[in-house]
Amino acid sequence: ARKIIIDTDPGQDDAVAILLALSSPELEVLGLTVVAGNVPLALTERNARKILELAGRPDIPVFAGCDQPLARRLVTAENVHGQTGLDGIELPDPAIALQPRHAVDFIIDTLRREPAGTVTLVPVGPLTNIAQAFRQAPDIVTRVQQIVLMGGAYFEVGNVTPAAEFNIYVDPEAAAAVFAAGAPLVVMPLDATHEALTSRDWIEGMRALPGRCGPAVASWTDFFERFDKEKYGSQGAPLHDPCTIAWLLRPDLFRGREINVEIETEGRFTTGMTVADWWRVTGRPANALFIRHVDRDGFFALLTERLARLP
Ligand code: BDR
Ligand code: CA
Repeated sequence: ARKIIIDTDPGQDDAVAILLALSSPELEVLGLTVVAGNVPLALTERNARKILELAGRPDIPVFAGCDQPLARRLVTAENVHGQTGLDGIELPDPAIALQPRHAVDFIIDTLRREPAGTVTLVPVGPLTNIAQAFRQAPDIVTRVQQIVLMGGAYFEVGNVTPAAEFNIYVDPEAAAAVFAAGAPLVVMPLDATHEALTSRDWIEGMRALPGRCGPAVASWTDFFERFDKEKYGSQGAPLHDPCTIAWLLRPDLFRGREINVEIETEGRFTTGMTVADWWRVTGRPANALFIRHVDRDGFFALLTERLARLP
């Protein structure tokens, strides 16, 4: 199985991404590294433990990471995810303990321990932990198999400012460092994730699954959906973060281009923008596979098939 570390700030869509990974034998989740993002770190690390407990996977270690962006004050998104970050269903206090090691140290130690080119990083929150690991241990960058991240937007522009997507906006300095690091990068921006919209039928299918995970996913999605429906008049909830895991499982469901992507850190109106050279006009070398489209039906069929395997 392909070894992955999920770096996350759960988040209802983060939760679905984690569940999708756990239900997929092609992937071995070495650990969850948690970052501040949707809500502060004390809540995101707790949410990560709750999700693992729900899935019956206390064997997966959870590491708390950075509680602030590299150079800015944390911006959170309770308006989208609720006060807990994981509103929609009440889950019990997790019995799973937090690991004593810092998430950044776990990332560094794991990349040094495992054979080079065998560990993939899947960041689905602000890129603070990853950038901090690269800064502290530059030797690990060439050992990364791939970074498959959710973040950014180009044709779909922003969801937190007119120019920026949330994960990149929260820590643009970290994003700039990760995009410049030279590790093979797959970027799942809003362009793709805004096509991964839940439907009523799919949510009801989740609710009807026999285990406890399906109904939890339905409740989370119900909560998450109201924001996009009210704010953007969209058809359903965009399942941003699960697109990264789906790409690892079924890259054939996605279409994109190898292009140059730069992160704006100083813009007057555009800080956190992913400046994507879609038409290759700059001559700058490609540093990312930038995804633009997802096969929505294929994506939701995959999710249903996999999530049905969970308790
Ligand atoms: C991203 O921001 C968070 O709110 C979601 O979990 C996702 O990772 C979408 O912009
Ligand atoms: Ca997220």
